[in-house]
Amino acid sequence: MSIGIIGGTGLTEIKGLEITGEKKIKTPFGKPSAAYIMGKLKGKEVIFLARHGNPHRYPPHKVNYRANIWGFKKLGVKDIISIAAVGGITKNMNPAHIVIPDQIIDYSYGRKHTFFEKNLEEVTHIDFTYPYTPKLRSQLIKLAAKKNIAISPIATYGCTQGPRLETAAEILRLDNDGCDIVGMTGMPEAGLARELDISYATIAVVANWGAGKSEGEITMEEIHQHLSKGMGNAIELLTAFIKIF
Ligand code: HPA
Repeated sequence: MSIGIIGGTGLTEIKGLEITGEKKIKTPFGKPSAAYIMGKLKGKEVIFLARHGNPHRYPPHKVNYRANIWGFKKLGVKDIISIAAVGGITKNMNPAHIVIPDQIIDYSYGRKHTFFEKNLEEVTHIDFTYPYTPKLRSQLIKLAAKKNIAISPIATYGCTQGPRLETAAEILRLDNDGCDIVGMTGMPEAGLARELDISYATIAVVANWGAGKSEGEITMEEIHQHLSKGMGNAIELLTAFIKIF
């Protein structure tokens, strides 16, 4: 069974992935962000999708999350690891740090966030108490310890609408709400995976301090610099995970 990987900002392709083919998928919800790249990594079958397209062209609020997740389901994927760039809010969430979040607060709006809206035989409310699949999370956490990769194993991800970054007051509000990191793509992605019964966990890479958490303004240069520093560890963890999968 193939594992699905969703690559975010800073990861439009995986080094070392032996590409065996690609599939363009049509879904009832429109087109996924890109073709699904089929490949092998460490001898294991992997299906990779660039969340923002390749080249990077869909901003977070324009990503067709439903098509992306539906496409994975159609390809028979039962487990997805997503890679996400985030801002750091609380202590230890410094740039280039790796985080395996366990909770989400969704502040996004106006996104197509459910498969359960038309032609329903009954109204469906999925359980979302633990939005990231505990089994996948604990495997990632154990592997990080084994590989000596410093991570935070518990963190709440606040999902903002973007594409602009937040104001300092917005980050303060997220902090007060209990968010440790902030990103723009965690939702509806995680919820949609749960709706289709696909296991899902995230490896988040901190790209910058959230607005107002460090001096001055946030620059794209700083974001890309920290991302390329942190992404090495994220890929090492991901590769170790694929190996045992
Ligand atoms: N806010 C929201 N999303 C992000 C950030 C941020 O500061 N950095 C990277 N993704």
